[in-house]
Amino acid sequence: MSEKLLKNLNNGINDLNPYKPGKPISEVMKEYGLTDIIKLASNENPLGASKKVLSALKGLDNEIHLYPDGSSVKLKTKISEIEGVSSEHVIVGNGSNEILELCAKAFINSDKNAIASRHSFAVYKLITQSLGSYLKEVPTIDWSHDLQNFPKYVDKDTSIIFIANPNNPTGTYNNHDQVVNLLNNVSEDILVVLDCAYYEYVDKEDYVRTNELLNEFNNLIITKSFSKAHGLASLRVGYGVASKGIIAALNKIRQPFNVNSIAQELAYFSLCDKEHISESVRVNSLGMEFLEDEFSKLNIEYIDSVGNFISFKTKRATHEIYEDFLKNGIIIRPIESYDMPNFLRVTIGTATENSAFIETLEQLL
Ligand SMILES: Cc1ncc(COP(=O)(O)O)c(C=O)c1O
Repeated sequence: MSEKLLKNLNNGINDLNPYKPGKPISEVMKEYGLTDIIKLASNENPLGASKKVLSALKGLDNEIHLYPDGSSVKLKTKISEIEGVSSEHVIVGNGSNEILELCAKAFINSDKNAIASRHSFAVYKLITQSLGSYLKEVPTIDWSHDLQNFPKYVDKDTSIIFIANPNNPTGTYNNHDQVVNLLNNVSEDILVVLDCAYYEYVDKEDYVRTNELLNEFNNLIITKSFSKAHGLASLRVGYGVASKGIIAALNKIRQPFNVNSIAQELAYFSLCDKEHISESVRVNSLGMEFLEDEFSKLNIEYIDSVGNFISFKTKRATHEIYEDFLKNGIIIRPIESYDMPNFLRVTIGTATENSAFIETLEQLL
């Protein structure tokens, strides 16, 4: 591509680093000549998808020559039932990332700006800057979003506020009252995106009550994902719930067949299997307890997390430890790109995976 052409990129794209996902298992096998790999790098469900979903998958091979239902009606109806809203309040996306991106496309251009917390989910910055805009980052308090301080960052051109709740990679959360307080203190012409990709794991009485928020505030969209507790990350499905007006606007700009038929069908079956979610959450909280105990015994500083991952601090250079983990067949995640150069993030795995992680960590410290 010519230099001249690249000068025409939207402002901000040149300064972006592409999103760095967790290293794929196949790559680590090849690079290190290993056969057994434990991946604890992308906050996936270590139990995988529900058995009901896997048996439904077997019957899904005879319609792949047909376009999917462009409106995801069956899945949307199920989501509406679960969320207690009518289906005009729901949009289904190619991962919840697509919903985040649609929000940005609908409300941001180079004259506008967005706000999020520092150390917050990387995609907010990617999508904002790709539209020629920029993201203002509010400093955290003890690694948590300081929502009380957000309104001070709002100016006349602010059009979106992104809140990851719980946040990735810190695992911190904001309670219902803090979110209400923010919504009461920003103008209703700003869209507040409450990204609840990990909400299933949160066991806190004061966590956000999304229905109450949606009933009270029209400038709010809640996003949720099938990639985490549902164990369907490879299918790329997520959804948003908001006022009819917001959903109608997002539907105007989404691609006609954004969610493939296999993803629609399996996400539907996954919503029908509540036991799989409870079991996944149970295994996660046992694993979280185990890792917290072990970190404490090893004198390792970590950030209290309500999600399915935990970020911890190391005395050795994080990149060295990360590489050493790879050599031992365990993939975790360095998070220097989140402005957290001394931290690594590990996803909670099965009991066996968690023990293997801790045994390796002990050797590497
Ligand atoms: C906070 C947060 N929001 C959204 C997403 C995107 O999830 P999805 O796979 O649904 O696009 C992630 C993925 O890691 C995340 O951590």
